[in-house]
Amino acid sequence: MNSTTESDADVVVVTGASAGVGRATARAFAEQGAKVGLLARGEAGLEGARQDVEDAGGRALVVPTDVADSDQVEAAADAVEDAFGPIDIWVNNAMTSVFSPAAEMESDEYRRVTEVTYLGCVHGTQVALDRMRPRNEGTIIQVGSALAYRGIPLQSAYCGSKHAIQGFTESVRTELIHEDSDVQLSMVQMPALNTPQFEWVRNRLPDKPQPVPPIYQPEVAADAIVWASRHDRDELWVGRSTAKAILGNRIIPRQLDNLLARSGWGSQMIDEPADSDRTDNLWDPVDDETDYGAHGAFDERARDRSYLLWASMYLPHLLAVAVALVVLLGAAIFEWWHADHSVTDSESTDAGRDRVR
Ligand SMILES: NC(=O)c1ccc[n+]([C@@H]2O[C@H](COP(=O)([O-])OP(=O)(O)OC[C@H]3O[C@@H](n4cnc5c(N)ncnc54)[C@H](OP(=O)(O)O)[C@@H]3O)[C@@H](O)[C@H]2O)c1
Repeated sequence: MNSTTESDADVVVVTGASAGVGRATARAFAEQGAKVGLLARGEAGLEGARQDVEDAGGRALVVPTDVADSDQVEAAADAVEDAFGPIDIWVNNAMTSVFSPAAEMESDEYRRVTEVTYLGCVHGTQVALDRMRPRNEGTIIQVGSALAYRGIPLQSAYCGSKHAIQGFTESVRTELIHEDSDVQLSMVQMPALNTPQFEWVRNRLPDKPQPVPPIYQPEVAADAIVWASRHDRDELWVGRSTAKAILGNRIIPRQLDNLLARSGWGSQMIDEPADSDRTDNLWDPVDDETDYGAHGAFDERARDRSYLLWASMYLPHLLAVAVALVVLLGAAIFEWWHADHSVTDSESTDAGRDRVR
């Protein structure tokens, strides 16, 4: 049972709240008593999210929204503030993608992925900033990916959008710093996650797609998002694979190109032929009748914690412990050295006295 009172409960907006990471994030905020605006398109998924939030102790407002349409995002923000009051936290999470070699992509597919994944995030950031900047408070979280820094094969539209979010976020953050604003803008870079994405994004590959292992549960992502919203960090990396991809790309980009050219196909598909009849969520939601929930089909292979995330969350504590250990060790060495030399000094003083006698 949480002790948050109705008046001090955070007002949170989550885009893409009907499934996957957004769904888990809405629930995680609700567990802290938040009032959550749930933005996405699919009716069954949104209704399931509303139920999750209420079961977890929060309040929910379902606002069917296509984030590619800036007017709809603006209207959604108004609806949330009318119902719950000023928005404290805005989470830009909605996404779509197309699994396909770039050579087979249609130009309208590039446009749509960019409009949902990149511009959806821009629209959310704009409406959040319009409300937060005059109040000089509030937090915006961009749900990012290791692929915001490192492009991989077969997801060119998505990787381009995630890179664009990263650049956009840095740019806006510098402007907020320039005007000495207290509005916080953070990006959480995620590893592969077990979400419904792989069952419903458009797929042109011969086999069924999978997140590139290691795979983490969406609750790991949700915990990172909630934590980031309460701590002033520009970026948070989740999962060792994220750190490896981002740092590796800084140090050995060419070698990673070659590695991905060899391994990037097999690592993104499972050994089961793709279902050529299945519908996808590029233009319209597929969760109108079926609630897909937060988890995808990879529960058995998914990890439910990230040690790297834990280490980054407790970095100041770990540094304090490390400094304390170094100080204690230094004091112990000094003590030992001093005692040793005091003995030697007193022995040599005694020997000197003996010589004098
Ligand atoms: N899964 C991974 O491996 C992974 C890895 C790294 C980063 N991420 C990031 O995590 C975030 C969530 O991804 P996920 O895997 O949870 O995806 P997901 O399972 O496919 O869920 C996507 C969410 O976005 C919504 N959405 C799609 N198109 C929309 C539109 N036009 N307007 C509004 N909402 C829309 C979907 O609901 P409707 O279709 O009902 O609208 C759904 O709620 C994304 O930012 C993604 O880049 C995921």
